[in-house]
Amino acid sequence: TIHPVILCGGSGTRLWPRSRVEKPKPFLPLVGKRSLFEQTLARCAGAIFAPPMIVTGHKHLGHVEQQLGESEGASIIVEPQGKNTAPAIALAAMRLAPDAVMLVCPSDHYIRDQSAFSAAAETAAALAEQGQLVAFGIEAEHPETGYGYIKRGGANGSGFVVERFVEKPDLETAMRFLEEGNYSWNGGIFAFQAGAFVEELTRFRPEMAKLVRQSIDRGEEDGVRFHPDAASFAQIEGDSIDYAVMESTGKAAMVPVAMGWSDIGNWQALRDASERDSSGNAAKGRAELVDCSNVLVHSDGPRVSAIGLDDIIVVVDGDDVLVTTATGAQKVGDLKGAKSQ
Ligand code: GDD
Ligand code: MG
Repeated sequence: TIHPVILCGGSGTRLWPRSRVEKPKPFLPLVGKRSLFEQTLARCAGAIFAPPMIVTGHKHLGHVEQQLGESEGASIIVEPQGKNTAPAIALAAMRLAPDAVMLVCPSDHYIRDQSAFSAAAETAAALAEQGQLVAFGIEAEHPETGYGYIKRGGANGSGFVVERFVEKPDLETAMRFLEEGNYSWNGGIFAFQAGAFVEELTRFRPEMAKLVRQSIDRGEEDGVRFHPDAASFAQIEGDSIDYAVMESTGKAAMVPVAMGWSDIGNWQALRDASERDSSGNAAKGRAELVDCSNVLVHSDGPRVSAIGLDDIIVVVDGDDVLVTTATGAQKVGDLKGAKSQ
């Protein structure tokens, strides 16, 4: 079986005004009827999966427990504070048996094709069982600088050897990777044996591994929740799995997967991941769109009526209305409203 480890940490300020500090991105029904977190849980349920382990902070615990519902056997690790993904994953890995295969899943991604995901999970798990640290590779479409890039080496079972892993390159480098052609985006989904991850983390970040272990040894069980020791955890120098492990390890493998993946990084990405009509419009909530194309409307109440627009995004949430273009969507996080919520 595969042990899903679901990471709930981020905030998603670029999806303001819908995503807010008190109700962040993973817990909102942004695409489809259920929240991204609920969709992640559903995606990781089924015969090949053990009950999920959720790693989250105090801030999100209420949302996690509410949306998790009566999930049989699920457990929650409550981080004393956010230290990025490497310590979060290490907490889960050190709570599992060393030979347990874990599948690390962000809680704020959208994946359209469930069966492609499941098939990739099985392929990745098979490589993980051989001691590999497996990343899901997504076909790189544009020189996005917010992603990791994986250079494919030779075939490795049903996947590839990772020749190089480069986290968040600058634009020039990303453009060069795209031209070279043999690079995939890192999807942020990983499979490995718990022990293999801990071993590599200990190799490259021994102090982090030691402090995570100590925070577990001094931690507290509380029903389905586990609270690592805050004093130990506070001393950790935070880092992501990508920088701490994936860029350095010699055991990385990549499984290419086409599954309609999006990390819904901004409103444009959300529009593109949504179900759209023949003119490219997508609407959630009440909307009347006349002679419009590629328009996204998200309204939590008021009816939005528009005529003759192209490539415009309109979001209504309570007292806030956001109107922008698809390109402008990149800058939403800089708005006063998004910063001062
Ligand atoms: N529990 C917990 N604690 N979760 C966290 C923490 C933390 O301290 N920090 C981040 N997360 C969660 C986020 O909520 C998200 O679901 C996931 O871990 C990844 O973190 P991000 O902060 O969203 O990373 P990123 O988007 O900048 O980059 C990663 O994802 C890209 C794909 O979306 C990297 O893995 C890139 O290489 C990758 O391309
Ligand atoms: Mg992300």
